[in-house]
Amino acid sequence: SGRPLTGYNAQNESLDRVRVDASGQVLTTNQGVAVADNQNSLRASLRGPTLLEDFILREKITHFDHERIPERVVHARGSAAHGFFECYQDLSDLTRASIFSEPGKRTPVFVRFSTVAGERGSADTVRDVRGFAVKFYTDAGNWDLVGNNIPVFFIQDAMKFPDLVHALKPEPHHAMPQASSAHDTFWDFVSLMPESTHMLMWIMSDRAIPRSYRMMQGFGVHTFRLVNAQQESVFCKFHWSPLAGTHSLMWDEAVKIAGADPDYHRRDLWESIEAGIYPEYELSLQIFTEEQAQQWSFDILDPTKLVPEELVPLRPVGRMVLNRNPDNFFAETEQVAFCTAHIVPGIDFTNDPLLQGRIHSYVDTQLTRLGGPNFHEIPINAPVSGVYNNQRDGMHRQAIPRGRVSYEPNSLAGGCPFQAGGAGFTSYPEHLAMADKLRGKPERFADHFTQARLFWQSQSQIEQHHIVSAYRFELSRVQTQAVRERVVSLLANVSMDLAQGVANGLGIRVPRAQQVVKPLEIAPEVSESPALSLFA
Ligand code: HEM
Repeated sequence: SGRPLTGYNAQNESLDRVRVDASGQVLTTNQGVAVADNQNSLRASLRGPTLLEDFILREKITHFDHERIPERVVHARGSAAHGFFECYQDLSDLTRASIFSEPGKRTPVFVRFSTVAGERGSADTVRDVRGFAVKFYTDAGNWDLVGNNIPVFFIQDAMKFPDLVHALKPEPHHAMPQASSAHDTFWDFVSLMPESTHMLMWIMSDRAIPRSYRMMQGFGVHTFRLVNAQQESVFCKFHWSPLAGTHSLMWDEAVKIAGADPDYHRRDLWESIEAGIYPEYELSLQIFTEEQAQQWSFDILDPTKLVPEELVPLRPVGRMVLNRNPDNFFAETEQVAFCTAHIVPGIDFTNDPLLQGRIHSYVDTQLTRLGGPNFHEIPINAPVSGVYNNQRDGMHRQAIPRGRVSYEPNSLAGGCPFQAGGAGFTSYPEHLAMADKLRGKPERFADHFTQARLFWQSQSQIEQHHIVSAYRFELSRVQTQAVRERVVSLLANVSMDLAQGVANGLGIRVPRAQQVVKPLEIAPEVSESPALSLFA
């Protein structure tokens, strides 16, 4: 009917329109014709050739031949669940986002957890980042918070993302899947990208082998903006904390489980929900101003940095409960299309150069993965608040817009929506000084080691031991000696204990400083951070 649905069950209700229960029904073709015999093809006599006219056989085989779609270029392996988000308080002083408008308000969500590097059928318990992507079906359109379980990222600029992914995916010549990130190309790349040092500390820690999807944190990673009805804005970092606590596997457990039950996390999520043990996460915000951010030594537009909680404490604002498994893996978990560009009035981007690239990437890849420009109509992707615009046609169009007008301005009656003005999404009118067009990075992007060191120091002795062991294991699988040495020399900027521990395990000396720590793309005016000169 196109009628907007409301309430926290709205998404579930909207899926009712397309749910099919075939039990007790006669088997039909796709044209609805009852099939008399689903066992035998139509043949010219019992021992003769099959007839081309057997449209029933041909339709069945043809559909089967086209069952597969491309897997996601990253985050191919994932598991998802439905649920709701419940807001604790009215946040309208900070944001006009409608999901935060009143205490107790519930918004339907669909959440997909994933690994990053592995293929669709790969094991769950590998050492990797985990995706934590949440689609909020709000009454003002879909908002996707496409996050990870680690609060920082490998690279500072979207320009490097294809390089990063090419380095961590199977090598192009033999395409051998990697059970973990350990192979020459990945370590070669990150050893030449000192900005990845902080993220690598998290990846080599127990955080990268979560015990369960129910027991891991989630982070929006980038700094976002919240904007209220008066067009006042604050910066915001998003954090999810699992009610069950944050827990990891031991490396030995992870390896054994990967062999014995590669679906371990998928099974755990599914079975918990079936058993009524609903995964629950609290959403907290770190809210800060431009003036605060200017005082800090790091840049809030740099996604390799977090905002320490000592500087900005977490403010809990709501909880999310996952209480329903998908009816169908392909229709929902596989076809869901998350996108950082999906924001709603009250939430806005910042100029984080990684985020800016992501805004382009997701829809672009989904045009291929989901076959054309109408994948927003796939039921799992459709907003419950309704879609009305002048876009038309294209492959697989489902909607049947009525009327003759699909353009604006127009003077002919019929079928055309009107723009919302101030009630709609408006970008925060950030003041931008006139500037030169350039490629480069601000100076405060240049310190790659201070937060990596803080992370190392925050770890208990046993956790530090796990980090050293993980580096030893991963680097022991790297065949190129120079790559191993470059990684260890970067670690010396974090902690000599760490570097020495890893070097001992590899039977090498902590190498002298190398000038690899000066990436080509840093603008000439950027000074080296003090940490870089540790070896001087
Ligand atoms: C998935 C691109 C950085 C989280 C994807 C996909 C692409 C992509 C193309 C596949 C989407 C699909 O086929 O539906 C990029 C680019 C990045 C980037 C270009 C940097 C420039 C990040 C970061 C995070 C992240 C920093 C976390 C904050 C995710 C998640 C998914 C994903 C969670 C899986 C979504 C799902 O479950 O379907 N990314 N990504 N990505 N990305 Fe990124």
